[in-house]
Amino acid sequence: MPEQRDRWAELTSGQAGEDYARRFAQLADAGHDVHGEAAFCTTLLEPGARVLDAGCGTGRIAIRLTELGHHCTGVDIDSSMLAVARREAPTQEWYLADLARLDSLGLEPEFDLVLAAGNVIPLLAPGTESTVVRQLASALRPGGLLVTGMGLDAAHLPLPEPPLTLAGFDHWCTQAGLALRQRYATWHGDPYEDGCGYAVSVHSRPAA
Ligand SMILES: C[S@@+](CC[C@H](N)C(=O)[O-])C[C@H]1O[C@@H](n2cnc3c(N)ncnc32)[C@H](O)[C@@H]1O
Repeated sequence: MPEQRDRWAELTSGQAGEDYARRFAQLADAGHDVHGEAAFCTTLLEPGARVLDAGCGTGRIAIRLTELGHHCTGVDIDSSMLAVARREAPTQEWYLADLARLDSLGLEPEFDLVLAAGNVIPLLAPGTESTVVRQLASALRPGGLLVTGMGLDAAHLPLPEPPLTLAGFDHWCTQAGLALRQRYATWHGDPYEDGCGYAVSVHSRPAA
């Protein structure tokens, strides 16, 4: 049976890298804060922490986290997105790979934080989400954090309908041995309430 493509590839045909980078550059030029994710993660980290940016895209967050003093590895399956990351930060570690097979990359595990920002989880290939969450959880050190940001309605997703629920996502996290620590409605830490269209979640792997 042919492998199912991720929803991002269905939307973009693997050609989105330059447009995606241009969109964020325009937002930054217009004075918007485009570093909310990195700033949020930094509040959770000690200086010099190890971060895995899972579904790093053009590397915009991983590059910022490196500027903030962390050691950041980026993994993405879209070569057009990764081409931008490699051009912008050639000395950083970038891997072209499927998060559903993260273990096959042979990365040194025990990351302090694994980030899946920008709707990575809703944009995975249908049916692979629990596998990916398990792979991300396995990359964490005991006590490490999985930080995710995802839209929960059409207004916050590049999809006509949300492909998952927050309860379903929490269930995959629980199955992967993670516990929910914090949840917000934005990267600026606005409180999350039922019915919010976006969720920033912090799950943790139990300390050893
Ligand atoms: C909307 S982009 C977000 C990129 C980046 N996290 C950001 O916030 O700018 C979603 C990314 O998820 C990646 N992605 C989706 N499924 C993936 C998979 N199975 N393995 C690796 N990356 C994946 C896509 O290639 C795409 O770059």
